[in-house]
Amino acid sequence: LQTLPPLQLAEKYFQIFPEEMDPLWQNPCHDKRHKDIWSKEKTCDRLPKFLVVGPQKTGTTALHLLLTLHPAIISSFPSPVTFEEVQFFNGPNYHNGIDWYMDFFPFPSNVSTDFMFEKSANYFDTELVPKRAAALVPRAKIIAVLINPVDRAYSWYQHQRAHQDPAAINYTFHQVVTGGPSSSKELLVLQSRCLKPGEYAAHLERWLVHFQSRQLYVVDGSLLRSNPALVMEGIQRFLGVTPIFNYTQALMFDESKGFWCQRMEGGRPKCLGKSKGRKYLEMAPETRAFLMEYYREHNLELLRLLNRLGQTLPLWLREELQSSS
Ligand code: A3P
Repeated sequence: LQTLPPLQLAEKYFQIFPEEMDPLWQNPCHDKRHKDIWSKEKTCDRLPKFLVVGPQKTGTTALHLLLTLHPAIISSFPSPVTFEEVQFFNGPNYHNGIDWYMDFFPFPSNVSTDFMFEKSANYFDTELVPKRAAALVPRAKIIAVLINPVDRAYSWYQHQRAHQDPAAINYTFHQVVTGGPSSSKELLVLQSRCLKPGEYAAHLERWLVHFQSRQLYVVDGSLLRSNPALVMEGIQRFLGVTPIFNYTQALMFDESKGFWCQRMEGGRPKCLGKSKGRKYLEMAPETRAFLMEYYREHNLELLRLLNRLGQTLPLWLREELQSSS
């Protein structure tokens, strides 16, 4: 029997098993062999009980804020690098390992009643995320917020314009979404970021490969915007969090912002910043018509999927399918 020094041994190992070069972090406490070698100083309690997975521009920041108003719900610490989101499961941060991830969470004061969570809006449509999330937090609940994908696409375009993305500055929204395969690379990249996340059913199916349907909850993002207190009641019941917090007293509608905001002491509103709830021109009717057609099949798939899961259909979905039939 022969062996090699550690580094060469590792190289040899990965030559034989190249598929294992990409790590898949599991919860060390779910396997006795791992737990036995896991440092006594460490705990597996600093992991989320649920994830808000996005997609982007559906109201995820508003939902994040609403959740943190609940006395038993605790958010991850903000990341200074990734616009406050941890973004662990989707990108290079994953290679920082689970200690890095756990450092974003406090030590819960009561493991059974505290609900720690994390919101990273591009988890929803990033290919590898459901598999990675299920490996580390298999019992986590997953919340996705869906608005009409046509509006989501436009909101993303406006977001990119506000961030001076040259493609969003140089091309109209209509040009971006209708551009053919010979369009410039920058247009096609923006087109994909506008359109792909809105193909909701395909992304949800990927989550359902790794999580049970009872772990998944679809939030109607338009209802979250118009009646956040009602939506928050449903979310609390899905999570099983207690006490059920009554959001009606914690919120107030701000006419000038045009959105629900937090009611502060003295009855003053505290709203999300300028980048949330932007003011922009309405979408051109021909662009809306084009996108309604683009999403028709995807929305039908979503209808079938939500019916199969026994979840309430978002109002926007019913309206969209009625008007396109
Ligand atoms: P717009 O700025 O295009 O209107 P996200 O936080 O996922 O990026 O989503 C941003 C969107 O959240 C905003 O898009 C806005 O429409 C929506 N939203 C829902 N409720 C909101 C609220 N209470 N305050 C501000 N924006 C809200």
